[in-house]
Amino acid sequence: MVEQPGSPSPAPPVVDPALVARLRADLASAGFTVDGVAERLGPVAAAALRREQRLPALLATAAPLDPVAALVRFFTLGQPVARADLEAALPTLRVEGVAALRLARLKGDEVVATCDLRPYAEDAHDWWVASDLSELATRAPLRPDHVLGIGGASTTLATWTIRHRVDRALDLGTGCGVQALHLAGHTGSIVATDISERALAFARFNAALAGLDVDLRRGDLLDPVAGERFSLIVSNPPFVITPRADDVPVYEYRDGGRSGDAIVRTLVRTVRDALEPGGVAQLLGNWEVPHGRTWRDVWGDWLAGIDLDAWVVQREVQDPAEYAELWSRDGGVVPGSSAHERLGAAWLRDFASRDVEAIGFGVVTLQRPLTERRPWRSLDEAPGPVAAPMGPVIEAGLRARTWLAEHTDEDVLAVAWACAADVTEERHGRPGADDPSVIIVRQGGGLRRAVRAGTLLAAYLGVADGELTAATALDAIATVLGLDPAAVRAELVPQIRDLVADGLLS
Ligand SMILES: C[S@@+](CC[C@H](N)C(=O)[O-])C[C@H]1O[C@@H](n2cnc3c(N)ncnc32)[C@H](O)[C@@H]1O
Repeated sequence: MVEQPGSPSPAPPVVDPALVARLRADLASAGFTVDGVAERLGPVAAAALRREQRLPALLATAAPLDPVAALVRFFTLGQPVARADLEAALPTLRVEGVAALRLARLKGDEVVATCDLRPYAEDAHDWWVASDLSELATRAPLRPDHVLGIGGASTTLATWTIRHRVDRALDLGTGCGVQALHLAGHTGSIVATDISERALAFARFNAALAGLDVDLRRGDLLDPVAGERFSLIVSNPPFVITPRADDVPVYEYRDGGRSGDAIVRTLVRTVRDALEPGGVAQLLGNWEVPHGRTWRDVWGDWLAGIDLDAWVVQREVQDPAEYAELWSRDGGVVPGSSAHERLGAAWLRDFASRDVEAIGFGVVTLQRPLTERRPWRSLDEAPGPVAAPMGPVIEAGLRARTWLAEHTDEDVLAVAWACAADVTEERHGRPGADDPSVIIVRQGGGLRRAVRAGTLLAAYLGVADGELTAATALDAIATVLGLDPAAVRAELVPQIRDLVADGLLS
């Protein structure tokens, strides 16, 4: 299905509870689940689809159409499907019901989807999520009011989110509502907001299809929840830095209508009042690093005077040209075309106007302290693979960092720490040398940290088995090596704190 340029966005789906219940039942009995689709497509076509290549899936679902193949062709690939094939896949909803829910329009004997609908799952849940048809289906650039389906950023935030039980949670910039679906598994009540009425319509439909009650509100950032507080706030905000130039398309899903990285900075600096004491906000973001500064300097400014614990994990850094290349082709502009170059130039001029040298991407966790203590800060880099899911790691890291902030060095020394089971040690040395020249301590899970250890730290980790307090162990090491015990403690306590924060010692 190739769209005509400039045609308006189709109306979003509507909720008719009886028809939604039929759709749910039909999709389930068709086996239109994540596993069902993967099995039907096979590994090659499924992997190609994840790379946004549709051809293998088109070939794998050629006629005759079974229900899963018909639903994939119709809702994911945007192919017209014969009425009879769709009726066979959705026998109780029927084609009239599909059209009444505004999921499709009729075209003679064929039916054409007007939105994407896919199965989506986490460990304990299977859902279906509707969003606007992707470029893969429409073969046309996205419209400015495009409502995004589930993408890499959505799943990153979902896997980094802490999942303990909370009373009230907020999903800010809900889009199709995917984070709200995840929140439903561990939250009493959910508010989800978006600036886009179209996005809220999709989120409303998806919540209804999942049988969930979500309080949906329209507005900018925290405006719709002014004066309210939450135990958990999650946001995959429209963090993409976009030049404010007339010829650059403004996509609602990625652009919050502010210059540079102001949307994420504003959220960081205003979210505290929306958190209960002890409450946590987790968000994704991009940040600009000007020449002569580091990303930690930038975050130092963002967090200045903010009474929140902050744990920022920078996952990726791009230079302005890499960032321009990536985002000028997002939305369907063909790389190498003159439109792509014009957009790339707009990005580069925009970065140059603020003297930007690099753009960081990462995951931000902010916690409102329960007490009057000074907030802690942890600005870490983790460019490689990390544990999946990261939520439990973040939860343990928040607990450990908070404990460390509330306890003195004497308290740290009084604990009998144990080296975690996933920690291993590598010794490197010149051939024939008696002693290693480098000792690396590696974490198997979590942020997968690799720490270069000196002789003292290596010796301590070798005896940190949960039986001896750190004080006793360090004093014994000092005696054996003939060193001053106070000097050994002074050198090792900061290192023990660092390893406790990331769970290498617990
Ligand atoms: C990247 S999408 C995230 C969608 C979804 N939460 C996810 O995780 O995939 C960002 C969403 O923020 C919305 N948005 C854009 N500007 C906003 C603003 N100023 N305030 C609130 N939401 C905004 C967009 O409409 C879009 O739905």
